[in-house]
Amino acid sequence: MCGIVGYTGTNSAPSVLIDGLKRLEYRGYDSAGIALIVDSRIQVFKKKGKIRELERELRPLNLRATTGIGHTRWATHGSPTDLNAHPHLSCDGRIALVHNGIIENYQELKRELAELGHTFRSETDSEVVVHLIEEELKREKVFKRAFLNALSRLKGSFALAVITTQEPTKIFLARKDSPLVIGLGEEENFVASDVPAFLAYTDRAIFLNDFEAAVIDRSSVEVFTFNGEPVKKEAVKIPWSLAQAEKGGYKHFMLKEINEQPRAIADTISGNLQWFESGKVEGIEPEEVERITVVACGTSYHAGLIGKFLFENLAKIPTEVDYASEFRYRDPIVKNRDLVISITQSGETADTLAAMRLAKERGAKVLTICNVIGSTATREADTVIYTYAGPEISVASTKAFTTQLTVLLLLALCFGRRRGKLGQREFDSLFKELMSIPSKAEAFLNREKEEERVKEIALKLYRAKNALYLGRHVNYPIALEGALKLKEISYIHAEGYPAGEMKHGPIALIDETVPAVFLATKSPVYEKVLSNIEEVKARKGRVVAVVNPGDSAVSKLADFKIEVPETHPLLSPVLNVIPLQLLAYYIADFLGYDVDQPRNLAKSVTVE
Ligand code: F6R
Repeated sequence: MCGIVGYTGTNSAPSVLIDGLKRLEYRGYDSAGIALIVDSRIQVFKKKGKIRELERELRPLNLRATTGIGHTRWATHGSPTDLNAHPHLSCDGRIALVHNGIIENYQELKRELAELGHTFRSETDSEVVVHLIEEELKREKVFKRAFLNALSRLKGSFALAVITTQEPTKIFLARKDSPLVIGLGEEENFVASDVPAFLAYTDRAIFLNDFEAAVIDRSSVEVFTFNGEPVKKEAVKIPWSLAQAEKGGYKHFMLKEINEQPRAIADTISGNLQWFESGKVEGIEPEEVERITVVACGTSYHAGLIGKFLFENLAKIPTEVDYASEFRYRDPIVKNRDLVISITQSGETADTLAAMRLAKERGAKVLTICNVIGSTATREADTVIYTYAGPEISVASTKAFTTQLTVLLLLALCFGRRRGKLGQREFDSLFKELMSIPSKAEAFLNREKEEERVKEIALKLYRAKNALYLGRHVNYPIALEGALKLKEISYIHAEGYPAGEMKHGPIALIDETVPAVFLATKSPVYEKVLSNIEEVKARKGRVVAVVNPGDSAVSKLADFKIEVPETHPLLSPVLNVIPLQLLAYYIADFLGYDVDQPRNLAKSVTVE
């Protein structure tokens, strides 16, 4: 999704903005631009393509500016061109604006403004907003008021940052359905669509809510409603270090984040121990919960599918899992003893937020499992449980997923005990096993031999055009997740299936060109998976099997095996997904793709 940065202070705005934009690159973009106040005038530089092109153009100019805004654009309305890139300028060149989101009534506004004599230079929906402010300014001389008047005309979703020569050290901001966060510095302030953009300068932040606007200056921050009424905001301290938001010697963020999983899982366990040990999840009486519905998208949805097994097995709570995008439009039956759990790494996914709002409206309690402190989901949910994965920069989610599984395990154990469905011995043994997961994940990741093996397999498979991922029971969602990882970063078509479904259709695809990746670690369904592998081998399929050390039956059949440490079957997804993440990573890397920024994808999907 598009990224916004803004800076006002005493340092060089161009370098802060370019640095911030680079740190937002992971969100995906196809053009970038900045607008600066230089000698009381606005200068705009924008370009299709990579930020480094923009940087190359800017460097020799050595511009002296201490206020500016920047943007990475991901084309929605109008193709990725220099002209469609943000910032957009008013006709008189005295206002510049960057926008994330979609202005739904832009055509109507554009017609109206064109009749009033405004000239549009781009095909974007965003440009209407800057002309609208310019038009309002003809009636209302105070910029803040003109800005608020313009906001009242907008329909759709927006995060806006605006600079004007009229108030040259200020940045005007507004948020509705698209994230915006203010970074607080000393004699300088920042704004961005995501914290990593300014984490190098400050870890104190104010998150704007929907229908909040703000004016930031070097040493002041004023937040108010769209009606102009002041809003008191608390600053939060962001618990992420800059090192976590940098590659630290790895070729890609994705590889770094895969390798960070042992620590992230350990941090997530320790960060949640307080409520877990007390057996109390704030605002929730597990005994009273009649049903759980999990709403989420993508990888987080896959975590939810595993959550269903955990809640039903360990706590005996009937659990449904729904794509947030489906839940919100299917007129769901929600009762007041339902607990709706949203799972969202970013806390800003538009569909997940809409599903949460609907669930609340219909009387359910909403708990969110989220990785980003202060994000919208955490502000809107009744109860928040954090994952402590640290910033996840790579578009393909890895450590967020395994930490979500960790929280789901903690919750299911807690609920199971509270509801009297889980004996002390089973509870203790599962928790002990959970505590050992970080070291088991570490052991797997540190075994060079195993990583080499994954690389070798990747080398054998990277020319495949299609792949199947198969698993059963709690590892069926891992098959889905493995397939999603492969397709999103390597563009190889991959399907995940419950292995038992194979003979109902997908088996028709099997031949020597379609590799089948099986989750075949020890579990009550091991023998069943073994039979499925035999069916694939009988059709000359190539089998990659994820197994436990000491396995012989599957290993004899498989063309390639990857050994992961053994654990309790219900915990096995946390370890089994790691080789699949690595496999997807190395395949995409062999194919020469930019793993962290896959085509057409964005890190947080803040529009529908
Ligand atoms: C896949 C991936 C996406 C996200 C999905 C939900 O690797 O990252 O499928 O999982 O867009 O995002 P969050 O969890 O931020 O709501």
